[in-house]
Amino acid sequence: AAEQRQKQHTLNDVLEKACKAYQKHLKASPRAISYFKGRGLSGTVAKQFGLGYAPEGWRSLASVFPNYDDPLLVESGLVILNEEDGGEAKRYDRFRDRVMFPIRNIKGECIGFGGRVLGDDKPKYLNSPETPVFSKGRELYGLFEARAALREHGYALVTEGYMDVVALAQLGFPNAVATLGTACTPEHVHKLFRFTESVVFSFDGDSAGRRAARKALDAALPLATDVRSVKFLFLPPEHDPDSFIRAHGKEAFARYVSEAVPLSRFLLDAARDGCDLHTAEGRSHLSSNAKPLWELLPAGALKQQLLSEIADLVQLSSRELTEVWYPTQAKPK
Ligand code: GTP
Ligand code: MN
Ligand code: MN
Ligand code: MN
Ligand code: MN
Repeated sequence: AAEQRQKQHTLNDVLEKACKAYQKHLKASPRAISYFKGRGLSGTVAKQFGLGYAPEGWRSLASVFPNYDDPLLVESGLVILNEEDGGEAKRYDRFRDRVMFPIRNIKGECIGFGGRVLGDDKPKYLNSPETPVFSKGRELYGLFEARAALREHGYALVTEGYMDVVALAQLGFPNAVATLGTACTPEHVHKLFRFTESVVFSFDGDSAGRRAARKALDAALPLATDVRSVKFLFLPPEHDPDSFIRAHGKEAFARYVSEAVPLSRFLLDAARDGCDLHTAEGRSHLSSNAKPLWELLPAGALKQQLLSEIADLVQLSSRELTEVWYPTQAKPK
């Protein structure tokens, strides 16, 4: 365990050093600076999030890490080791010619990076791989930067992207975080609830964003206790939080936040999706869609009320619906 801690310490040192180097390179790159400026970012917010730039070139990091063959560089995800059959092992920087978003843990230590191309190349974003200090299913981008604002604003905004977090912070919503290009997990939600009792999911308005919201529902349901609030905000299809707030302003975004759909409504809408409630078949279908979602809820008043709301939609009593979902043993004839 001591050895493990020592190793993490050194991994953190490597990542921290790279973070500083990327920030220094940003200052020296008019192209990267004008990329961020072109997306409306202020120097202040760029500094607050420690944004940087990974230069072109296969071994730019060699200037900060004289021992470029150090296995720690590969383990940190900063360097890719390509072992070709028979040939010599080749090492090169993972992040090249990308603007860099350092990902910090809750202590503020750099644990990984997201890097974006400046143009339209693919892949648009490149993330650090999973390492002993970085797990995408657990970490949220911007959580460290948002921690005080979560308490002040009383809720967290959960977005999909790096740019969403930074743009929202700049334009008056410093209480935003993002999942790291993966589905929102129960661990993500659990982590957020250590800082606030209220979470508003604010994904992109496109179909991918809607799918993400549906996954977030599954992740949030087990943690939706009666004292907590979980809501879902649906932006117009052509927007994500970054583009929306830049196009329509802070007040318009605040309106979407205030009109966010509560988890109970979203659950019922998800269960009802594609069901024709004018037919017995449609209503029955709703009841079977609703069951696995309802089961995820922790016991409490919310769960009990949803049972009766689902029962109403299906035109059964709560008791009858329970009997449908959990048939008691067939009575002997
Ligand atoms: P911008 O174009 O810079 O505004 O990015 P965006 O955040 O709006 O991108 P998008 O909505 O397409 O994706 C949301 C998030 O998914 C990003 O912030 C990334 O974390 C992740 N992502 C997007 N594209 C890629 C990709 O090509 N590879 C990987 N690994 N992740 C991606
Ligand atoms: Mn998207
Ligand atoms: Mn975007
Ligand atoms: Mn987006
Ligand atoms: Mn619009």
